[in-house]
Amino acid sequence: MPRGLMMIGVIALTAWGCGSATARGPTLRSAGEHAGRWIGAAVQAGLLTSDSDYAGTLAREFDYLTAENEMKWGPIHPEPDTWNFAPADAIVEFAEAHSMRVKGHNLVWHMQLPGYVNTEMTADELRATMEEHIRMVVGRYRGRIVAWDVVNEPIAENGRGLRASLFLDKLGPGYIADALRWAHDADPDALLFINEYGADGLNAKSNTLFDLVEDLLHEGVPISGVGFQMHLGYVFGRPPATVRQNLERFAALGLLVNISEMDVQIKNLPGDLEARLAAQAVTYHDIVADCVAVPACHAVTFWGFTDKSSWIDSFFGDDDPLLFDASYKPKPAYFGVLDALQGR
Ligand code: G3I
Repeated sequence: MPRGLMMIGVIALTAWGCGSATARGPTLRSAGEHAGRWIGAAVQAGLLTSDSDYAGTLAREFDYLTAENEMKWGPIHPEPDTWNFAPADAIVEFAEAHSMRVKGHNLVWHMQLPGYVNTEMTADELRATMEEHIRMVVGRYRGRIVAWDVVNEPIAENGRGLRASLFLDKLGPGYIADALRWAHDADPDALLFINEYGADGLNAKSNTLFDLVEDLLHEGVPISGVGFQMHLGYVFGRPPATVRQNLERFAALGLLVNISEMDVQIKNLPGDLEARLAAQAVTYHDIVADCVAVPACHAVTFWGFTDKSSWIDSFFGDDDPLLFDASYKPKPAYFGVLDALQGR
């Protein structure tokens, strides 16, 4: 029986409607620990204190946190001499209190930049500002943040070369190596990643990304690996069939790989809600199984965990893209992930 169909059978027996099905059995984090994979979620600092179900579910099920917004350049460094560390600190402290790791997200991205980082800067000003930003943020959390998405989404939409951005335009392609070197200098023990979307399977974008990291490695630039975001569903399309081959080719360079921002939109899938949730569960299962099959794939991070709170709703309209419903009940997708972590 194809693994997807077999899994739906398992889901039918164990999931949806079983209430606290997770209370007694394995959790995602215990299954992940057994499989040697970190199980991550993007989190919002405010919800850690305002929603006890949010905090409780997170602490029970995950062991690797990513700040959804709080460590991005604009939020954490809104003015040249103003640093807003409190929300990021809250995430790190929550993680430490619950024996979780933290991934910092992100240091250099063309979005969510503060107003003072703009086209009026000279190249020297931008380079100096970027260096100061990276050294300050990475240095502050040295030894407490295990990994950083150093450069986020550097590849052009169409996969032909690097993305046109303030950084590329002013500094040239060397900004990527500079960012990685400064981050490494600020915390030599941190894992350093490039993080990209739409490069999940074998395609033009992942080919360009592959060439980029191969060049960085040849130049001796400190890069630990690549994160593949895996935003799936009607906006970014069906899950590619070549995810595993893609992970394997990056791993063959000696790099770590990870699934870094997974969510699966279901609004425009065919069928009733039950069928769409079942299809979503298959997608979650198969992608996590791809990670489990590749030894270098050390972590899976979901971009949130409850349908109560997802960027998808505000950007694309109501959907149910995550592992728990809005009442924190585990969905079929949750059991799909659990099965994949357990090798089923
Ligand atoms: O915090 C401000 C608030 O003060 C203000 O009143 C409000 C008004 O719009 O905006 C709030 O900021 C929003 C922020 O999320 C926090 O909620 C921004 O407008 C909104 O643009 C921002 O969206 C984030 C988005 O990145 C920005 O591009 C999403 O939450 C976040 O999930 C999303 O995450 C990205 C990853 O970093 C990189 N990969 C893609 C992924 C999804 O787009």
